Amino acid sequence: MVEERVISPNRHPDEANAEQSLRPRNLAEYIGQERIVDTLLVTLTAAKERSEPLDHVLLHGPPGLGKTTLANVIAAEMGVNIKVTSGPVIQRPGDLAAILTNLRPGDVLFVDEVHRLSRAVEEVLYPAMEDYALDVMIGKGPSARSIRLQLPRFTMVGATTRLALMTSPLRARFGVMCRLDFYDLDAMCAIVERSASILGVPISSDGVHEIAARSRGTPRVANRLLKRVRDVAQVRGDGTIDAAIAGEAMQLLQVDQLGLDDSDRRVLETIIDKFDGGPVGLDTLAAALSEDADTIMDVYEPFLLQLGFLERTPRGRTATRRAYEHLHRGIPAPSNLQENLF
Ligand code: ADE
Repeated sequence: MVEERVISPNRHPDEANAEQSLRPRNLAEYIGQERIVDTLLVTLTAAKERSEPLDHVLLHGPPGLGKTTLANVIAAEMGVNIKVTSGPVIQRPGDLAAILTNLRPGDVLFVDEVHRLSRAVEEVLYPAMEDYALDVMIGKGPSARSIRLQLPRFTMVGATTRLALMTSPLRARFGVMCRLDFYDLDAMCAIVERSASILGVPISSDGVHEIAARSRGTPRVANRLLKRVRDVAQVRGDGTIDAAIAGEAMQLLQVDQLGLDDSDRRVLETIIDKFDGGPVGLDTLAAALSEDADTIMDVYEPFLLQLGFLERTPRGRTATRRAYEHLHRGIPAPSNLQENLF
């Protein structure tokens, strides 16, 4: 259900190719996340000057903010190949060994959802990241012995939406840590403008603003909304996107002024209506919504927290005064709400 939301930060299954054409290919084209871009620029330049591979990089933050894009940009800037895989795909230590032994010197190994690697696979990764070494067991029982194979020097780029679920030994092996945050409105406007220009869609500056403001600080959402608005402009207008056409499209998509859709509103309304505004525990909330607790944490919560509509307290999730106001709900007497929210 989540995958069908137009504002879902997760990549839709058929979206990879379309996304590819809109992605920045190098750091100069990359909009926003200035601190990360600056850090990477310095680190990349220094590594290139020393003719060394880049230190391992860990990218973390909510989905849709450009972790995969940045991994590709890093490889392009270093002038090396990138091998893309993900934590759940690497099931056994042998799977990782096969990937590692096929790398060429300097290559980038991008592992998405790196927090989902199994312990056994992590054990193989530690010496690989630290010493570019692969320890292989030969034989079984008393005659078993381990031999050490040398791997090409490579750069591991790990990505995760859940830093807290990563083991500390794995975390410690990344030399560069980058936390991606939601993009501000200026950056979102620049991204919408750039994408519209690549797609060849005429768009007015208020049209850009209308889409950017409802894109939840997430480029993937902006690019998806832009395409849906383009359809409405083509069918109901003259092909040009302005604020009126964008607003009409958002109405059709049920995406409100702040970029919330029905599913977000349902989360807030459930907390307000079924649990008196909270606090309600994550699992209880998940059961009431018939949703997966992980989906609530990864997909819904980051943006609701960012807007200040939701608070995580030790006793559970609470809807804030802002959430009540946004949903045009009567604000309950202060006794029903956590005092610190007012
Ligand atoms: N498209 C998606 N993300 C982008 C970014 N950060 N900069 C430029 N274009 C983008």
